[in-house]
Amino acid sequence: MGDQPQKGHRPVSDELPEPPEIARDVFVGEAWDRAGAFAELLAGPGVVRGLLGPREVPRIWDRHLLNCAVVAEAVPEEVRLVDIGSGAGLPGLVLAIVRQDITVTLLEPLLRRTVFLEECVEALKLDNVEVLRGRAEELAGQREFDVASARAVAPLDRLLTWAMPLLREGGELIAMKGERAAGELAEAQSQLQASGAGTAELVTVGHGKVEPPATLVRVVAGRAPEQARRRRRR
Ligand SMILES: C[S@@+](CC[C@H](N)C(=O)[O-])C[C@H]1O[C@@H](n2cnc3c(N)ncnc32)[C@H](O)[C@@H]1O
Repeated sequence: MGDQPQKGHRPVSDELPEPPEIARDVFVGEAWDRAGAFAELLAGPGVVRGLLGPREVPRIWDRHLLNCAVVAEAVPEEVRLVDIGSGAGLPGLVLAIVRQDITVTLLEPLLRRTVFLEECVEALKLDNVEVLRGRAEELAGQREFDVASARAVAPLDRLLTWAMPLLREGGELIAMKGERAAGELAEAQSQLQASGAGTAELVTVGHGKVEPPATLVRVVAGRAPEQARRRRRR
């Protein structure tokens, strides 16, 4: 590590706001410069290449960077985390920025997005991130993680079918669901049983840092369903 992230990713939208005061408490040490550089990458090339809507630029700090960073409160130490459907790096890249103790795999099927993600990883000089092009369901049986994160990727029942085969027994799916969390959890009961999930609960994080606090669904993986276990043994 040691090297500082590159600065000056132009063009950057005039609408990128100054970081709110609270961001100083969330992005500490090296994470501060990296968060600023990532905000510029999102507001510049991210918008130009259609990865982020231009109307999101004024909300990059609160709705995107801070909201994703507080998810780190729910991530155990030194885990291998896969961010399913990372898109422009949310929440996975932000988690890698704030948590140097974890390793993060950004899983994303679309080439345009993985190219952007690789450029971000290089520009921010992050050595705890891997970018993987592919779909979650294709990765089952090939890789195993301690934590899977996801934001705005799929309804919880579908997310369970994608995430559970990627998790070790006792691993956790952390799905950012906001106000839909309770409803999606209720609707996913049969899928929770079918996918061999253990406990499932709502968790709120970011109290005093983001308004409203972020609501997550945390699902602990039980024993992998037989099909995925067979694939893993091959
Ligand atoms: C609405 S975007 C959300 C991106 C990012 N998580 C965010 O919150 O800004 C959904 C992303 O999921 C990806 N995706 C869709 N199906 C997927 C699958 N089966 N496995 C992994 N990623 C998938 C899409 O390519 C897209 O980048």
